[in-house]
Amino acid sequence: MISKRLKTLVKYVDEIDNIMDIGCDHALLDIYLIKNKYTDKIIASDIHENALNAGIENIKRNNLESKIDARLGDGLDVLSDDDTINTLLISGMGTSTILKILDNDKIERIYKLIIQSNNDHDILRKKVTDLGFYIDSEEYFQDNNKNYINIVFKKGNRSYTKTELKYGPFLINNKEYLEFELSKIYKIYNLIPKLKLRYRLELRLEIIKLNKYLKKCS
Ligand SMILES: C[S@@+](CC[C@H](N)C(=O)[O-])C[C@H]1O[C@@H](n2cnc3c(N)ncnc32)[C@H](O)[C@@H]1O
Repeated sequence: MISKRLKTLVKYVDEIDNIMDIGCDHALLDIYLIKNKYTDKIIASDIHENALNAGIENIKRNNLESKIDARLGDGLDVLSDDDTINTLLISGMGTSTILKILDNDKIERIYKLIIQSNNDHDILRKKVTDLGFYIDSEEYFQDNNKNYINIVFKKGNRSYTKTELKYGPFLINNKEYLEFELSKIYKIYNLIPKLKLRYRLELRLEIIKLNKYLKKCS
């Protein structure tokens, strides 16, 4: 069984994708993808030996050693010239770790990134689009009372407004996501009465802006 969080990622996998799951840990997602025939080969990598060993154990338990190639190492460094990987799956990490992983010449070979970052989605969008990818789709969901965002980037250039980079070109029109963002801002606004005037003003402007988008969704 895999969690709802991991399962949300499988729909982004297409037939033409040759996948590397960076930071596979337990390799549960990779096992699910192979068993359910989303793909027939995956490289599953992790930088920590203990994490990778947990993955290898699970791969062996499912007799999938011939289909899931488990590799120890840092991000894209584990790829050799012969590998034909064109898609990266990266989930369960923060944006700064993800950006360090993408800061590698081998990114040139990649046409698609399926990313579930834990934080700083605005920075992720800005930096990854600066690397020459555009945002192909986005999803906001909850699992076990936690909030998650999936972003799929594909090779190509598109320009985005500041608001689109901050909230997402798709999520800015998503009612549930806007309500979640507004609730975060209201919390800060109401719980900290002694906020500096300028910051209060900024928050009020943000609230007005998001409410405008929210109205368009309803
Ligand atoms: C919290 S786990 C997430 C596991 C799985 N992807 C998921 O979403 O459930 C993050 C994993 O990323 C690995 N990791 C962190 N930095 C990495 C890097 N630069 N290269 C490969 N793996 C990395 C960690 O060792 C850890 O096993």
